[in-house]
Amino acid sequence: MIKIDTPDYPIYFGVESYAVLGNQLNEKQYSKLLILTDSTCNELCLPHFLANLPTTIPFEIVEIESGEPTKNLETCQGVWEAMIDLGMDRHSAVITVGGGVVSDLGGFVASVYMRGIDCFLVPTTLLAMVDASVGGKTGVDLNGAKNCIGTFSMPQMVLIDSVYLETLEPRELKSGYAEMLKHGLIYDESYFNHLKDIAQVDFSDIETLIYHSIVIKTQIVQEDPKELGLRKILNFGHTIGHAIESYFLINPIKERMLHGEAVAIGLVIESYISTVILGLNLKVYQEIKEAIQYIYGKQLFSETDVEEILTWLKLDKKNRAGEIRMVLLSKIGECSFDLVVSKDLIVSGFEDYSK
Ligand code: GLY
Repeated sequence: MIKIDTPDYPIYFGVESYAVLGNQLNEKQYSKLLILTDSTCNELCLPHFLANLPTTIPFEIVEIESGEPTKNLETCQGVWEAMIDLGMDRHSAVITVGGGVVSDLGGFVASVYMRGIDCFLVPTTLLAMVDASVGGKTGVDLNGAKNCIGTFSMPQMVLIDSVYLETLEPRELKSGYAEMLKHGLIYDESYFNHLKDIAQVDFSDIETLIYHSIVIKTQIVQEDPKELGLRKILNFGHTIGHAIESYFLINPIKERMLHGEAVAIGLVIESYISTVILGLNLKVYQEIKEAIQYIYGKQLFSETDVEEILTWLKLDKKNRAGEIRMVLLSKIGECSFDLVVSKDLIVSGFEDYSK
């Protein structure tokens, strides 16, 4: 069986991992299980999950609405109230079956319910498989500010079954792919070179790529689980990306933007900034920009958009004393963190992105 061991929990791959999950649930003799999912996954993924889950422990399914706007404390309160109504105690456990919102929110809900109960993660999107379900970050947004409230809380186990990816629209797959591109950019040049030419990528073997991305992420998290230093590099592209995502999320006239789509723009703009601050080769930057804009297209930003996006940057969790700090590349596969970046340089980054 394919498995990645981290110091805190295992990540299992493939259809055989349901038996392992069943054994763990039965061994721990949980009093009750809550299966947390969203409206889309309840229809498309839950039938496969339940058909493969071997346990006699009583469970209840709680469904939240799909999408980032649901990722807030109000939704958590609804889930906690349902848990109380269902009689869940400290020996109960949560299983999340869903994408990044369900994994982040479900992990958070479990991590503070009665001061913390066990949680098992079954990611069903590419984004959740390669990022959200790995590394123990949980959380929800606050008034549009991304992941502003949350905990570090490791799951008991993560189960990756790539069959769920068949339920996704191409746009959702591309959203997760941005995190994989990020893994290559910060840590592994040959991986980035492999991924950047998307037409050449063999998606029938996506599990091998997911495995590779998770290995990169777990190596980084293992060195710095609480993000005091090295783990910050996983935020490459996210300082700008989160600000764009928050701006689109809170602005009713803007079209929906997926997390990875915003991160992809962030990867380009933060690579531009890297040329100025860390001397990333300009030709390499152009290659990164071309590859990413080929996959994701080019988003149009007005001057007002950029001004508004800049105001969201002040909520970034990496800021210190009002200064915007970023992860930047010196070359593909090598980066530094905590670099102070001026607003003017960010504006230049948006200008170059749009050229
Ligand atoms: N998504 C970034 C991290 O887990 O650290």
